[in-house]
Amino acid sequence: MRMNFAKKTFRHGLRLVTTASLTVLLASAAWAQPLKVLMVSPEQSGVLQSGGLAHAVTGLAAGLNEQGIKTEVLMPHFLEMKAQDLKDTGERFETSVDWREGKAHKISRFSLLKTDATKVPTLFLRHDHREGETNYFDNRSHGAAKVFYAPEAAIGESFGAFSKAAADYILSKNYDVVILNDWTTGLIAAHLDEARQQGKTVPKVIFAIHNMAYQGMFPKSLVEFLGHNPRHFQVEGYEFWGQVNFLKAGLHYSDLSYTVSDRYSKEIQTPRFGAGLDGLMRRLSAEGRLKGILNGITSEEWDPSREKSGLKHRFTPQDLTGKALGKSELQAELALPVQAEVPLFIMTSRLAEQKGLEYLIDAIDVIAKERAVQFVVIGNGDERYKDRLLELEKQHPTKVRFRDFSGPMEAKLTRYGDFFVNGAWFEPSGLNQFFALLNGTIPVVSAAGGLMDSVKHRQNGLLFEIQPGANGEGYDSRATAEKAVNAFREAIAIYQDKKLLNEMRVRGMKEDHSWSSRIRAHFIETFEELLNRKLTPALPAPNVIPACRDAFPGAA
Ligand code: GLC
Repeated sequence: MRMNFAKKTFRHGLRLVTTASLTVLLASAAWAQPLKVLMVSPEQSGVLQSGGLAHAVTGLAAGLNEQGIKTEVLMPHFLEMKAQDLKDTGERFETSVDWREGKAHKISRFSLLKTDATKVPTLFLRHDHREGETNYFDNRSHGAAKVFYAPEAAIGESFGAFSKAAADYILSKNYDVVILNDWTTGLIAAHLDEARQQGKTVPKVIFAIHNMAYQGMFPKSLVEFLGHNPRHFQVEGYEFWGQVNFLKAGLHYSDLSYTVSDRYSKEIQTPRFGAGLDGLMRRLSAEGRLKGILNGITSEEWDPSREKSGLKHRFTPQDLTGKALGKSELQAELALPVQAEVPLFIMTSRLAEQKGLEYLIDAIDVIAKERAVQFVVIGNGDERYKDRLLELEKQHPTKVRFRDFSGPMEAKLTRYGDFFVNGAWFEPSGLNQFFALLNGTIPVVSAAGGLMDSVKHRQNGLLFEIQPGANGEGYDSRATAEKAVNAFREAIAIYQDKKLLNEMRVRGMKEDHSWSSRIRAHFIETFEELLNRKLTPALPAPNVIPACRDAFPGAA
């Protein structure tokens, strides 16, 4: 039947020989009216990265390009980052700052640079500071107190000035849609709103919320520094308890906001997760301006059947031998007893309170005393958790390992581990559970945000509840540790039931969490709704493949 399909397609003028090339061709559908999208973000994979934000931005932007939607990323130009082949576009943007008595006392100059050496074409706004002046994005480390994005004392001014220049850049082009990401980009929405009020043509503005807990709050004096119209500094604007709130600006002034999972979009409408903005979130939801779209992943990068440097063994859902071999070598490498019958739990996580370390460390201690298990945790962050994890390793030398985060170790653990643990008390989306699912490493996760949207209890993983703390806030550490221990016990039982274990693994491995599936299922429709027009691909989109097959009797 494949032959038939190829022949038939050939008659339609497409030079296709194999179904593989068909998929490639369809995956890059050209659109009758090509759409232009700009994503603005402080991070991007391979350039500057603190965590999931960079992966999510690059993955979505690359996925959109693959689907024929022309997408670029705009970032600040950091003094310390990895970016090659930067070319000066010759475009300059001047931003007036330090406003007092109705006039600007300073001009901040920005140059627009561009590179195609990144996965997604990327533009950088470089602050051309004068002598003696600090660069807005001088993020070179200062000893132990590493400042990540910009000099901390003036980070509001840095991103404030960047936002003005970014808005000017956007207005000088013809993007259809701009996607802003997290608090650092929120003020751009206020500037674009200002332009819209003045009758200028402005693209549709989407604000992506990766984490409500980081809002970017600065003293009222920033309004004057940036020379903003005072109308913004009010409840119906970006004012928040007497301060300028960048995140609120993004939420208030964008046409649409979305969180990186549907569940999180509901959670942040409650005081427990809304970080003070739950009222605004309820309002946006009532106005149809709040959505949830679960993150995706670049599946090829995590596919266990593919070669990946440092990973010796490969496997497929049909044959998991390579997973078992990889596990024994991993146990040996970490100087853990090489025992196939002992389940290997892995955790790869920022060492932050959000991630549930308060109760997870206690829960690991309890299960390690009680059962034959192995736990390998990798991560960077809070020293207090690092110390406790190292202490745990000392107490359980044959069962627990802690290592600093490293990309190659993350890849190994994800591919060869038995269970993946994330017990965050809130998790906007999470990405590692998708990597784990694809690798047959069963997620044991808290029923929160994106974890709850991607894990179905006893189908592809296990969920445990976070017990709220006093007055329904946060979490109760002791009660939640008990829930986690119970989930670990259940996972151990599943590990002993080889049939169920295999079923759950294979089910997870066969799920499609790729960015292209998310784009086809959600983003195209979201753009259509916003632009109020149907986006028609010139070629059939990939999701019509099954229907095409149906049209040819006998299709596989
Ligand atoms: C943040 C969130 C995480 C999400 C990531 C990318 O890091 O905490 O849940 O996956 O952003 O959207």
